[in-house]
Amino acid sequence: MALQLIDVSKNFGGVIASSGVNITVPKGKITGLIGPNGAGKTTIVNMITGMLSVSAGRIIVGDRDITHSPADQICRTGLARTFQNIRILHENSVLENILIGFHRHERCSTFAALLGLPSSRNETAEIRKRAYDLLTQFGMSDLAEHPAGSLSYGHQRKVEMMRALASEPDYILLDEPIAGMNNVESDVLADLFLGLARSGKGILLIEHNIRFVSKLCEQIYVLDGGRLIAEGPPADVLRDPAVITAYIGGEHA
Ligand SMILES: Nc1ncnc2c1ncn2[C@@H]1O[C@H](COP(=O)(O)OP(=O)(O)OP(=O)(O)O)[C@@H](O)[C@H]1O
Ligand SMILES: [Mg+2]
Repeated sequence: MALQLIDVSKNFGGVIASSGVNITVPKGKITGLIGPNGAGKTTIVNMITGMLSVSAGRIIVGDRDITHSPADQICRTGLARTFQNIRILHENSVLENILIGFHRHERCSTFAALLGLPSSRNETAEIRKRAYDLLTQFGMSDLAEHPAGSLSYGHQRKVEMMRALASEPDYILLDEPIAGMNNVESDVLADLFLGLARSGKGILLIEHNIRFVSKLCEQIYVLDGGRLIAEGPPADVLRDPAVITAYIGGEHA
């Protein structure tokens, strides 16, 4: 089982943000997506999650073609993401932000919830317990009641990750998840991501920190100018002259 992009392209007027991109994100592994600024990495995530339409090509999850599905339907197929520019409810508590993520699994009818029927109360208690389990996993239980906007960038990123994980996705797409974190924080996240992969989730990891990506990924894809210029194990990809040129410029390569 995998999430697959097949010959995916995206144009914004004259700007080619993706051109014939083929990427496979298998379950149970962390797949890296790197490339210089403006290479088209976030555009890939926006297309997978239905925030942007695809100009050409296909996106498949398992055996389902989600290329033209609306975003809410794509979410229900088991995909979740975090945002490069953090999107959380600043005024709301950390716990409330995480609870939003459980939406996909809310099995009680709104009517039952409004009446406060026992089934609804149990559901809420169960969901709160699961939210606290996530908080414990991310070492943030003591911050549950804090307004999310008052936290450090590192913690806000973790709130997004917990919200994404609350929907129990099969695949999680992380757009620069360790930006703004120190080495201690990112090492903790590295272990968490490896644990998520071991538990069977497929992870697409977009990151500028090559050391971090190399440590976690068996397979890395490199984008430049919307095109894939290399793919393979980190050691091979980072030796690739095309990759070196893309990162530091032809004359220094
Ligand atoms: N909504 C949009 N409208 C027009 N152009 C866009 C839009 N989104 C992205 N682009 C353009 O597409 C290209 C790829 O952008 P994208 O944000 O995917 O790059 P990126 O690899 O995520 O960069 P970064 O590392 O800076 O986050 C850029 O030239 C960008 O200006
Ligand atoms: Mg980006």
